[in-house]
Amino acid sequence: MTTTTVSDVHRGAPEGTPLLDATDLYAGYLPGVDILNGCNLVLHPGELVGIIGPNGAGKSTLLKALFGLVPIRQGSVVLGGDEITNQRADKLVRRGVGFVPQTNNVFPSLTIEENLRMGIFQDPKRFAERFEFVTDIFPALGERRRQRAGSLSGGERQMVAMARALMMDPSVLLLDEPSAGLSPVRQDEAFLRTRKINKAGVSIVIVEQNARRCLQICDRAYVLDQGRNAYSGPGRELMNDPKVIELYLGTLAADVEAAAHDDTQG
Ligand SMILES: Nc1ncnc2c1ncn2[C@@H]1O[C@H](COP(=O)(O)OP(=O)(O)O)[C@@H](O)[C@H]1O
Ligand SMILES: [Mg+2]
Repeated sequence: MTTTTVSDVHRGAPEGTPLLDATDLYAGYLPGVDILNGCNLVLHPGELVGIIGPNGAGKSTLLKALFGLVPIRQGSVVLGGDEITNQRADKLVRRGVGFVPQTNNVFPSLTIEENLRMGIFQDPKRFAERFEFVTDIFPALGERRRQRAGSLSGGERQMVAMARALMMDPSVLLLDEPSAGLSPVRQDEAFLRTRKINKAGVSIVIVEQNARRCLQICDRAYVLDQGRNAYSGPGRELMNDPKVIELYLGTLAADVEAAAHDDTQG
């Protein structure tokens, strides 16, 4: 039996005080049924941190718990030194936390611009300034501001959803599977976009089913299994860890083949 120390739980994390610090979280949807069973995560300023793990591991539940959408029964979440455990989502948005859920993350009947206005309804005076910032990252959204979100492709909608979350100038962005349901080329764009937002100064927690790509772009990652931390460390290290490959990157061989195939397609 191996013992786990705090430094193992957050292996590779920088020194200093984390921006977001989730400790020993227990959370779930139904009374008496915990989906998170003592889960830990820290996000340091400027970091891009990934969460990978099998289907049903509780990755989405973790993001929702951090964002006040699933009740936390035990444990704490601290943001910039302040406890925010179980705070409501609208309050968290005002405190600088943004969340992009995996699905239903745009208002299809509204235009791109209207979607972005919804993102900053708590502070409408800043619309022009923030619109400029997000359309600098996503020029296509500025050019097509009057188009209805419902008429956009999956990749474009994902862009609108990310841009909407960025309107409030968050310091922390929580992204749930931004590449899900996209073609390989569009998936690459989603990862590049995530990197670009991170480089613009936003600290990010990204949940991904595309584990290999996620580990490639992340500073660090956590492998979650049954609502617990299984492994953690720098992305590239986890990617080459035989245990992680065997247990959690079962699709690795298929991914590598797919990447080789993409390469030959130019
Ligand atoms: N709204 C919900 N009500 C009840 N159980 C849920 C709900 N959403 C997810 N679950 C359960 O929580 C577990 C973890 O789900 P989830 O966090 O979505 O996993 P992941 O994102 O890692 O695939 C699963 O067993 C799932 O059935
Ligand atoms: Mg999920």
